[in-house]
Amino acid sequence: MSAHHEEMTKTTPMQVVVATVGGLVAPLIAIFLIIQLVLGIQASHMNQDTDAQSKVVAERIKPVGEVKVVDANAVKVEKNGEEVFNAVCTACHTSGALGAPKYGNKGDWASRIGQGYNTLVKHAVEGIRTMPARGGASDLSDAELARAVAYMGNSAGAKFTAP
Ligand code: HEC
Repeated sequence: MSAHHEEMTKTTPMQVVVATVGGLVAPLIAIFLIIQLVLGIQASHMNQDTDAQSKVVAERIKPVGEVKVVDANAVKVEKNGEEVFNAVCTACHTSGALGAPKYGNKGDWASRIGQGYNTLVKHAVEGIRTMPARGGASDLSDAELARAVAYMGNSAGAKFTAP
């Protein structure tokens, strides 16, 4: 009897292991499931307007300046005075639009030529009154503008030497 009883109550090492592991793992599984539940609830809340939110965020974090990609291999070919005139200046300086001194018109240009080549070039670069800076073509170089000024001035009696 006593031997049998002993056998019934004796805890085997295997039982100890099972009990210990079970006791540790069960709570871990419970915690894991709770975390999953919480995360799931959060995710479903956030999904509602993530689209609108991400747009707002993108707007906030977008760079202040935007990079304009220019082909570094594209060589800029400098235009001569006539080419610049035909591409840009003619828009006003052929018809005299906005009171622009007309190409080839000595009367229009005489007093302007009197200011000197450098002043005229400066005004072409910076603009003056209704004459827009660089004739509105911001990609023109100073040299191209100077050539166009010489081209127009010389058409009206000046003897400017273009760069
Ligand atoms: C949008 C019209 C317009 C275009 C395009 C334009 N001009 Fe003019 N330009 C004017 C007007 C208007 C004046 C007269 C401004 C004034 O004296 O009030 C003027 C005057 C000038 C003068 C005389 C400035 C002075 O001091 O008397 C020069 C030089 C000149 N333009 C150069 C150019 C060149 C070079 C180009 C082309 C690259 C060009 N302009 C394109 C409108 C234009």
